[in-house]
Amino acid sequence: MINNHSDWHIPEHVGIIMDGNGRWAKKRALPRSVGHKYGAQNFRKITRYISKQGVKVLTLYAFSTENWKRPADEVGALMKLFRQYLVDSLTDFREDDIKVVFIGDRSAFDPKLVELINESEEVAKDRKGMLLNIAMNYGSRDEILRAVKMIGRDIRDHKLDPDQITEEDISSRLYTAHLPDPDLIIRTGGEFRLSNFMLYQSAYSEFYSTETLWPDFHEDDFDKAVMEFNRRNRRFGGV
Ligand code: IPE
Ligand code: IPE
Ligand code: MG
Repeated sequence: MINNHSDWHIPEHVGIIMDGNGRWAKKRALPRSVGHKYGAQNFRKITRYISKQGVKVLTLYAFSTENWKRPADEVGALMKLFRQYLVDSLTDFREDDIKVVFIGDRSAFDPKLVELINESEEVAKDRKGMLLNIAMNYGSRDEILRAVKMIGRDIRDHKLDPDQITEEDISSRLYTAHLPDPDLIIRTGGEFRLSNFMLYQSAYSEFYSTETLWPDFHEDDFDKAVMEFNRRNRRFGGV
């Protein structure tokens, strides 16, 4: 438990690219959807653990804007799991006081799922614990494009002067407005890429990649990532 290491610095905002469900299933000669099922179970367990470690914001990348390219039956299985896990999460995270919010374009989802997303945010809105930020139909390029459109409209409506645009004008129009930038981004499944995750916000995030596949990523794997984070020297361009 990280709690036993009082000298450890706990990252304020952790992002996790939960990758490797398909390979986890393939190794066991099971359909990919079974991998997603075990991945979703792990999501519940690890979220509770991370909230107990003092992390303030946890962003989980659950479905990207590019994941619609997958076969219809896989996308369907994922949507079914989202519905099921959102129903559970309505009560699930109450005792840990976890506040749930979503980023991404929710308009593309089935209206029933949108309703559940809204309801999950609503029941948790007064909670004071960790903020669980679930990225669903999220893509950073889409997010930036959306911000550019907002800025364009504000210029047209004379609310913004193009010569006076600041970085804050951009970040405040991203889905993550009001959230700190991620300090640590963990990717399971062994790849070293962001796959359209928080391209703007990750300018100075520490990146940690592990071969461990998402359904196998447990408490001690998270501790290892935090340990590694504590060894990094974050200079932010300084000396
Ligand atoms: C991550 O696991 C889950 C989603 C992207 C929804 P994958 O389904 O990408 O698993 P691999 O990378 O094929 O093993
Ligand atoms: C990234 O995983 C997206 C999520 C974890 C939701 P992918 O499996 O979609 O990424 P690529 O295709 O390997 O880049
Ligand atoms: Mg993958």
